[in-house]
Amino acid sequence: MNLKGHDFLKLLDYTPAEIEGLLDLAADLKRKKKEGIPHRLCEGKNIALIFEKTSTRTRCAFEVAASDLGMGSTYLGPTGSQIGVKESIADTARVLSGMYDAIEYRGFGQEIVQELADYAEIPVINGLTNEYHPTQILADLLTIREHFKTLKGIKLVYMGDARYNMGRSLLIGCAKMGMQFTACAPEGYMPPQDLIETAEKIAEETGAVLSFDPSPESALRDADVVYTDIWVSMGEPEAEWEKRIPLMKPYQVNAANMAFAKKTAVFMHCLPSYHDEKTEIGRKVSEKFGLQNGIEVTDEVFESPASIVFEEAENRMHTIKAVLAATV
Ligand code: CP
Ligand code: NVA
Repeated sequence: MNLKGHDFLKLLDYTPAEIEGLLDLAADLKRKKKEGIPHRLCEGKNIALIFEKTSTRTRCAFEVAASDLGMGSTYLGPTGSQIGVKESIADTARVLSGMYDAIEYRGFGQEIVQELADYAEIPVINGLTNEYHPTQILADLLTIREHFKTLKGIKLVYMGDARYNMGRSLLIGCAKMGMQFTACAPEGYMPPQDLIETAEKIAEETGAVLSFDPSPESALRDADVVYTDIWVSMGEPEAEWEKRIPLMKPYQVNAANMAFAKKTAVFMHCLPSYHDEKTEIGRKVSEKFGLQNGIEVTDEVFESPASIVFEEAENRMHTIKAVLAATV
């Protein structure tokens, strides 16, 4: 696997063998980290971290991964830099190319990270756009592989808003890795038709089985992994909650829906999650719409032994480290 100099913008650009290679590298780097074996594979390199949206996991994962690899990093947050306000993406790409060895970008449209990559002379890594979250999917795949010892044939059911970054990216990730993927969402919240067609073409080659089913009871049958994400994503208007709550309510991951899945099923979530009222938004939305014990997932499921969300969160760091080590 030689990915040196490659961008990491979406999983569609990577072959199943390359994805598997990144997972193997991540597993190896994870073992080295746990055993205290130094792995400063990018000594003396530097990365610029552009975040036009907020982050905990992705930012921390990039900073720790870079540090472990011997790289320096500069965080450019949603405010305080010239990006977008006084300087275009194209100019930013060329300025940063002169000082850094890689750029991470989190922001709005996929076309922005694509433009950055078009103008940059160094690898650009997508740290989340409205359309894709590819580093999250690598972490999810590593977590599933660790838990089930394989990816092939594992059935992942994505519950809720399947039209945004997580639903789309999981569709592609599962198709690439020969998994079973079911999007379980209300009308209007399935992945876009052209992406479904692309995923179906991939599935013909990998043996993946894809389905799109609005009924939780049938969608969740034989599920190994039940996955969800928040119902209103970063960058979407707050007013959307009003419309989403009644639409998404049947797709909440709660004990009743988990009971439709396999007894051995695990629960996954990219996080952050509104599983209780200990967050500002979780509290506000729960109060306004009379919800108790969580929004997209109940606190009961989130805190249950089936929940592997914190292993998943840790794997963000190991997988992002693999992407850096491979591309920089
Ligand atoms: N899952 C994820 O991307 O988390 P952050 O928004 O905290 O980076
Ligand atoms: N769909 C969520 C994912 C967060 C990691 C968002 O875009 O806000």
